[in-house]
Amino acid sequence: ATTLGAAAAGSGRYFGTAVASGRLGDSTYSTILDREFTMVTPENEMKWDAVEPSRGSFNFAAGDSIVNHASAHGQKMRGHTLVWHSQLPNWVGSITDATTLRSVMNNHITQEMTHYKGKIYAWDVVNEAFADGSTQHRSSVFQNVLGNGFIEEAFRTARTVDPSAKLCYNDYNIENWSDAKTQGVYSMVKDFRSRGVPIDCVGLQSHFGAGGPPAGFQTTLSNFAALGVDVQITELDIAQASATAYANTVKACLNVARCTGITAWGIRDSDSWRTGENPLLFDNSGNKKPAYSAALTAMDGD
Ligand code: G3I
Repeated sequence: ATTLGAAAAGSGRYFGTAVASGRLGDSTYSTILDREFTMVTPENEMKWDAVEPSRGSFNFAAGDSIVNHASAHGQKMRGHTLVWHSQLPNWVGSITDATTLRSVMNNHITQEMTHYKGKIYAWDVVNEAFADGSTQHRSSVFQNVLGNGFIEEAFRTARTVDPSAKLCYNDYNIENWSDAKTQGVYSMVKDFRSRGVPIDCVGLQSHFGAGGPPAGFQTTLSNFAALGVDVQITELDIAQASATAYANTVKACLNVARCTGITAWGIRDSDSWRTGENPLLFDNSGNKKPAYSAALTAMDGD
């Protein structure tokens, strides 16, 4: 294959990227986007602060511009993200009453998923709810006011709103099987599956250092998959973007049947949130980097 998307499609997978609505008018950017990628995640436009900046006031314009672009170019969408402690407006963070927060959370999920119903392949229903270096949830307004059950409640609400969307839990630092955080998320997914809490997928963000995926990355992917969920690499970037590190990441996914796709967290290095780390597949001018060829070759199955 000659593009990442076509190479991934060869094994029934997708290759996606994060997209910033403000860059869609940059023709270098959109040319690469539409040539290479078959899945799109809005980098910021579907987050709570963008969508519901004040209670009950919803603004979907920026998200819609990305959905419309994707739809016009045959790209599927990952929705990112419904419940997250970050990029959360102050009015949510200051709620102290459980009845109010429960209603606010469920209304946010309902309004956003209804707006995009039928247009989203998978939603990151809950993002980054676990604490680093721990098997436990992190402190957040949702955790502190609603307790451990807020994750389950969010997934149950999401299923009722759009039963055809895949519902994912998404997090970082859950790639190394031996990390406590990985074990905590694994236990939650296992518990959800055993009790029939609706969860379809786990997103491993995969913001890697220069060495690329940790030893045991493929084991982590296959252990999650064995619980009966799809796994996806949802926010891939690798400091300095070595070809080997990218190839190893792609191969780990290809080796796990239920690893359904990979999303890079941006297109050119200059589009990345990791300023100065050059972690992506295209340079600042939009030229393919060695990591691009390595990822493409690996995706083609060598
Ligand atoms: O929207 C405002 C804009 O109005 C203002 O003029 C501008 C001035 O700085 O800031 C804009 O907000 C920025 C926003 O990106 C949109 O560009 C925020 O300051 C900035 O913090 C924000 O960064 C995003 C970050 O999430 C926030 O947590 C990054 O672009 C985005 O790549 C990053 O993505 C996250 C994933 O969602 C979850 N996993 C980790 C990943 C990396 O942090």
